[in-house]
Order: sequence, then C-alpha cells, then structure tokens
Amino acid sequence: MSNVVVIGTQWGDEGKGKVVDVLAEKAGLVVRFQGGNNAGHTMVVDGESFIFHLIPSGILHSDKICLIGNGVVVDPGVLTEEIKQLRERGISVGPHNLMISENAHLIMPYHKLIDHGRERLKGDKKLGTTGRGIGPCYEDKVTRRGIRFCDLIDPEIFRDKLSSILGEKAFYLKDFLKSETIDEAAILDEYLPYAEELRPHVTNVSVLINQAIKEGNNILFEGAQGTHLDIDHGTYPYVTSSNTVAGNACCGAGIGPTQIHGVLGIVKAYTTRVGSGPFPTELEDEIGDLIQRTGAEFGATTGRRRRCGWLDTVLLRNAARLNSLTGLAVTKLDVLSGIKTLQIATAYQYGNDRLTEFPSAMKVLEACKPVYEELPGWSEDISGALEPDDLPENARAYLKRIEELLETPVQIISVGPGREETMLLQDPFDSV
Ligand code: GDP
Ligand code: IMO
Ligand code: MG
Repeated sequence: MSNVVVIGTQWGDEGKGKVVDVLAEKAGLVVRFQGGNNAGHTMVVDGESFIFHLIPSGILHSDKICLIGNGVVVDPGVLTEEIKQLRERGISVGPHNLMISENAHLIMPYHKLIDHGRERLKGDKKLGTTGRGIGPCYEDKVTRRGIRFCDLIDPEIFRDKLSSILGEKAFYLKDFLKSETIDEAAILDEYLPYAEELRPHVTNVSVLINQAIKEGNNILFEGAQGTHLDIDHGTYPYVTSSNTVAGNACCGAGIGPTQIHGVLGIVKAYTTRVGSGPFPTELEDEIGDLIQRTGAEFGATTGRRRRCGWLDTVLLRNAARLNSLTGLAVTKLDVLSGIKTLQIATAYQYGNDRLTEFPSAMKVLEACKPVYEELPGWSEDISGALEPDDLPENARAYLKRIEELLETPVQIISVGPGREETMLLQDPFDSV
C-alpha cells in the first residue's frame, strides 16, 4: 500500500484531472486537499468530456470513494450543481462515494462579491482571479471568522455565525468597494437547503482516510492549481490563496507526513498561465498562438485564453525541490508535434547575472530573460503512441532531457486528452 500526491508543477492546468482519473483505478480513495472551484479539471472518457471544479477526479470510477478535505474551500451551490449534473449523466453520486470534511470552509456570497469588487478597484493592476471568492474565503478562515460545514449543518449555529459577520461585510462592500450588498434572508434561503442536501455527505475525513490506510488501500491526493500559484512559494502576489505544494496534502486532508510515499509532478510539455503575473518563457508570437490553438488552451473554469510559452526548467526544478517530486507525468506532448525546433529554458539572464534558481522578487523575475537550449522537434502525429518506442526519436530525446534537468524519472507520458492516450512507464504507487 502507498499514498501518492499529484500536484501541478507550473501555473495550473497541467492535466492533473486526466492523470488522477487514470491513476484512480489503482487507489481506494481520491482526496482533494486545497483550493476550491477556481480549479477546473478535465477528463475525457470514451469520447465524453467531464470538467470538475470541486468533486475529485476519481468519481468516474464507480467503486472509488472521493473525499473533499478540510483544506478545500467549498461553494455549496457549485458542489450541489456538480452532483446534479453527474447524476443527469448517469453517474451515481451519494454518501457512498462522496464525503466532505466537516472542517472545510464555505464560500459565501459575500466572498464572491468581495473578490469581484477588489479586482474591479485594482483596474489594470488586477490579479486576474477566477472571481470565485477563493481569496476572501481563505482570509476569513485565517482570521477565524469563517463558516465551516459543521456549522452549515446546524441551522442555529449557521444563523448565529452569519448574522455576527454580516455587519462588517456589508460595511466593507457598500462603503469601501461600492459594490452591491447582501441580504441575510436571501443567504439563509439559499444556504439552508444546501445543508439538507449535503448533510449526509459531511464527516470526519481524516478518520476515513486513516481507516482506509489501515485496510490497505492506496490513497491518491489530487492537487489543484500549480506550484507557482502557491501562496508561499509562488509568484506572489500573482498566486492563489492556498498552499498548492504536496506538503499541504497532510494539513488539508488530516494525515501526517509519514503517510505520503510518492509525489507525482504533472508537467505540461510547454508552459501556460491564466491571469496576470510574470511568465519568463511566454511566447507572444505565432508559435505561442499555434500552441494555444493546438493545445486548445482555454481555461476550464473561466474560459479565458491561456498564455503559452516554452518549457521552463528553472520553474520545474523549483517545483521538484519544493514538492520532493518522486516522478513526473509529462502531458500534452502531442501538442508540440510539427514545431521544427523546440526550446527549453535552463537558466535566466538577469542583467549580468545568470540565475539558476527561481527568484522571489517579482521585479527581478519580470526582468529575467530565459536562457534557452534548443532541441530538434518532430513532425509525426504521436497521439496514437502506445509505448515510448512508438515515439519519434526527437520526442524521446525531449523527455530524456526533462528527466536529466529535473533529476526525476518520467513515469507517465500523455499524448492526448483521452484516458487511453496515456503511457504508464512506472506505477507511481509501486515506485516508492
Ligand atoms: P488540470 O487543471 O491540471 O486538471 O488541467 P485542465 O483540465 O484545466 O487542462 C488540461 C487540458 O488538456 C484539458 O482540456 C485536458 O483534456 C487536456 N489534456 C490533458 N492531457 C492531454 C494530452 O496529453 N494531450 C492533449 N492534447 N490534451 C490533453
Ligand atoms: P487548476 O486546478 C490555472 C489562477 C487565476 C489567477 C490566480 C488567483 O485547474 O489547475 P484565485 O481565483 O485562485 O484567487 O485566482 O490563480 N488560478 C488558476 N490558474 N489553473 C487553476 O486551477 C487555477 N486556479 C486559480 O487565474 O491568476
Ligand atoms: Mg484546470
């Protein structure tokens, strides 16, 4: 038995959902541990596409249990809608396969209004958040004014907590953000029915995980966002409001560090970013447009066009260290087919200095110019490849170079969005 954390190594949208769906087959439980419905995880099974924002990407396997850990911030409207849509598509969702931590915090209507109001006030300097209320919800958690699932399912406590916080929220929204304000009765009307619907799903997730471990199950932890959107280690302030690194699987799910045995870093074969913030290898030319089109790089949550650029191993080595990666899953290799020459950033030039470690100050990062290594591309369509030997030599050389630069083995290669378009070279559950 072993437990593996899947995390994004770049700025999100690396293909975590797809890889989690593939690996879920080998796990008993699939657990989300941070973020909220700012995430958009896509999987394509038998030609059908599914996008999950909150429900863990193991739900398409009928015999797996999916858990939403205490570290996740949950918009109950989005969760109930996701459950409803899955049921409409014939997928059974109930307390037998989906449980939520009683300690998980609720995203409230005022969190979304504050998120939008602040972005509007910032104008050109906005962060480009997803507008889902993620930051304001984590803020209330840390300042001890949050409302948790254990509060929601007790209407008396829910009413009390809500009324004690609304005065301050209304003042901030109306007087500072000049935003529309909130109505207590409307919130109660909306949220109390969520309590009824979700009550059977609310439990102590930490206890469930520990039981499953004792029974010999593999546990798969599903990260959201990416390492460089981490609140501590990312490109602050152009980050999300949670720790996205593997270490947070422990805090966000309720287990200890000795229960993590492997960390699989998902590496998109090039780099993308949605929202504002520095991006040294960004391509604002026809190759960037080509990658954006071929890779269908539109945000799964907001539909925004993703910014695209070359692979950046300064960024990836940072992720390898911060997460103690034990393996890599390289996704979207097929998207690079047809590009004559590929570039990989191996260092940054900052004035007269050559940097090999990712800088913390945004002023420095913004001034960094990538130092590239060139590799020959390949012209073949590789989406039908079943094993690495089916790949053109140049594609294999590209993967080998990633392994060398990151000093981490490639365990999975993904050459298309479909579940079957995946090569498993080494089982992440067995390799530790
Ligand atoms: P996540 O947030 O990390 O789960 O990634 P997203 O789902 O937001 O974005 C990844 C996109 O790439 C989705 O549309 C996937 O269906 C798609 N995808 C995943 N792996 C591959 C791949 O190997 N090749 C191609 N062409 N598409 C892929
Ligand atoms: P997945 O799990 C890509 C980005 C937003 C914005 C910043 C802050 O699908 O990889 P937030 O709403 O979290 O306060 O926004 O973080 N962002 C993501 N970018 N993929 C995601 O999730 C993201 N979740 C948040 O675009 O720049
Ligand atoms: Mg995504």
